[in-house]
Amino acid sequence: MKKLLLAACVTVATGMGISYSYEAVAAENNPAIVHRQSTYQVVAGHMGSLKSILFLGGSGDAAYHAGAIKSAFEHMGNAYPAGSDKGETKAKAEIWEDMDGFKQKGKEAYGATLKLVEATAGDDKGAQIEAFKALGGACKACHKNYRAK
Ligand code: HEC
Repeated sequence: MKKLLLAACVTVATGMGISYSYEAVAAENNPAIVHRQSTYQVVAGHMGSLKSILFLGGSGDAAYHAGAIKSAFEHMGNAYPAGSDKGETKAKAEIWEDMDGFKQKGKEAYGATLKLVEATAGDDKGAQIEAFKALGGACKACHKNYRAK
């Protein structure tokens, strides 16, 4: 009986997971758009966890979250291939018109991520906060020019 119940729970949970993520992206079927938006969500989630640790007295492993942001950015790959400018996307046309400028913003954010990884390896909370803010600024700088409101 217990086993059956457990099996039912797992099935329900799995089903919910699928329907949730499917609904969240149901309007969009371009794989590049779905992938990049989902990966940004992962990054934003880790930024939220870092906010909790650095500013709200939350417990947690800042180095884990910083490392996960680095991995997510490295995983992005060619996130803006030709043809991924149309659809349920907030990516502005400026990205494809000025790919060098856009990539530069990406490099700056990645550089800021490396500094955050370095800071979270140590115990200097002030340095961690500074690195977190710098990365937040790099996200905003790209969004300002290349992401629609
Ligand atoms: C090089 C430019 C660039 C950088 C750097 C960048 N973003 Fe974005 N971000 C974008 C663009 C462009 C979109 C819109 C993508 C789309 O809708 O296809 C976006 C979308 C998002 C979204 C919405 C995803 C969704 O579900 O539609 C979130 C959240 C986000 N970014 C968070 C972040 C965070 C947090 C950082 C920094 C840690 C960051 N971004 C760094 C360009 C950037």
